Amino acid sequence: MCGIVGYVGKNDNAIKTIINSLEALEYRGYDSAGIAYINDNHINIVKRQGRIENLKKDLNLDINSNLGIGHTRWATHGVPNEINAHPHKCGKITIVHNGIIENYSELKTMLIDNGYAFSSDTDTEVACATIDYLYKKYNNMLKALQKSIKILKGSYALGILCDDNLDTLYAVRVSSPLIVAVKDNGKFIASDVPAILSYTNEYYLLDDGDIVVLKDNSINFYNKELESITRNSFIFEGDLEEVKKDGYEHFMLKEINEEPRVIKDTISYYFDGTKASLMKNIPDLNKYKDIHIVACGSAYHTGLVAKTLIEEIANIPVMVEIASEYRYKKVFYNEATLVILVSQSGETADTLASLRKAKEDGIDTLGIVNAVGSSIAREADNTLYIKAGCEIAVATTKAYSAQLALLSLLALKLALINNKISDEEFNNLKMQINKLPEMIKELIKSEKYRKIANKIYTREDIFYLGRKIDYAMSMEGSLKLKEISYINCVAYAAGELKHGTISLIEQDTPIIAVITDKDIKAKTISNLKETKARGANVILITNEVEKDNYYDEIISIPNIHPLIQPIVTIVPLQLLAYEIAKLKGCDIDKPRNLAKSVTVE
Ligand code: G6P
Repeated sequence: MCGIVGYVGKNDNAIKTIINSLEALEYRGYDSAGIAYINDNHINIVKRQGRIENLKKDLNLDINSNLGIGHTRWATHGVPNEINAHPHKCGKITIVHNGIIENYSELKTMLIDNGYAFSSDTDTEVACATIDYLYKKYNNMLKALQKSIKILKGSYALGILCDDNLDTLYAVRVSSPLIVAVKDNGKFIASDVPAILSYTNEYYLLDDGDIVVLKDNSINFYNKELESITRNSFIFEGDLEEVKKDGYEHFMLKEINEEPRVIKDTISYYFDGTKASLMKNIPDLNKYKDIHIVACGSAYHTGLVAKTLIEEIANIPVMVEIASEYRYKKVFYNEATLVILVSQSGETADTLASLRKAKEDGIDTLGIVNAVGSSIAREADNTLYIKAGCEIAVATTKAYSAQLALLSLLALKLALINNKISDEEFNNLKMQINKLPEMIKELIKSEKYRKIANKIYTREDIFYLGRKIDYAMSMEGSLKLKEISYINCVAYAAGELKHGTISLIEQDTPIIAVITDKDIKAKTISNLKETKARGANVILITNEVEKDNYYDEIISIPNIHPLIQPIVTIVPLQLLAYEIAKLKGCDIDKPRNLAKSVTVE
């Protein structure tokens, strides 16, 4: 959700460096882009609507500059045009911003009363004017930034330049991600690690309210009280290759192909095949008799899968809630409640707010996170990392699968605690877990997805059906397809069909059905027959050998233990979505209107 970058160095290649870093953050938003750089003791601003590519066309990358800030936008306040694009300049202050200023409207009125005029519709311009107003008042940037943090409400990471200090890059962080990195003579601020990976894999994380002051020869961190502080550095475990397409046409396809490795890495990090490893590597869960899983988007869907697994196999009740609802609703806890927050980025605003709500109520929290050192990872009582590495495609695939893998291990641990798994079943499951990467590789190889996609990609509506865990899988399949292909598709619980949805079925309407739960299979089959009787084109994804006349196409998947079945079931759903979007000529890695990391509510 918006990417910001800042650079100061001894070399004169700031423009190239900022653009290069910004391109690595384009997954965060891509409706407009801009840069402010210092050349000849003057701040120059260039911004353009659309992708960074557009900005580059009108930018002379060879102009000498050793300091600047850049931005790639996902619009929140004001349409995506050049005026609303960042950077914004007011008086002596120029800024780029990721996040939302919640009280911008009141501040705008106050600033207008004080003689400020605004040209854009953004909250960012208001933040910029606020800093300028305070700078005029205190004539000291540090003091102005400290006061701004007190006044500006919401979530924001800012990169800031001041006309009076053209050798200095300032940054502040309040509830929006921001890292700082140093490489030889260059110093960076950025919204996320991919921005710096061409230069270094070592970075500093900021706490809420931190201010950083960077010059070509110094870096200083300050806390809210303006005391000089130190911050720990982290090493990013992956490398630059992770953020390159590596010969694949799209990041999404590359990332699906990484699933075998990611599943193996995630599982083997916690589970070496022994029960003891699960007991040791996953926090003590003995006391929990009630679990809430809270998340957004695909992460929410992994919660729905985990709910079925934990309830049916470990026999513990689980409530799953969308974070934007959970944070505002009345929630009933008891002393044995555990709140699990699932988030790839660890920065999703609503998930983070839900975590804080549970903590305020004194409830134990567990984060399941991909981004190391992210806000949720740092604030949860315990955090378990998935090992998905950097995910660039906006539509998540490998991180979703890794979340499933980790939640399966959690369910397994709970089932073991509650004596719900016999030794024989455990040994069998262990063998199947070892084979998961090969199973996924085999599924990825199939040509079937493209063939099926060819038959349905021109349709305007597609329905997904399933019951119980297969309904949860259908929801993710449907989300994947609508995100990247813009086809109107909806997942329904198969039994709910006849209460309305069936009226939408016409001749050849595609129905993508998932059947992996044997106990409920016959019921879903009846529902599929009802749709076939009305002309539907049924595409069945199943782990059973089926020879019948209630489907038109079948995609067979391995039949494995229910705890890990979803990890293979998802592969055809992801690849079908991919192939359909590709045939439609969509921008698969950067679907319209979306952003990968949603740091606003
Ligand atoms: C966005 C992404 C989704 C993701 C959701 C939650 O909508 O496009 O892929 O599932 O946010 O993100 P999180 O980082 O919390 O998992």
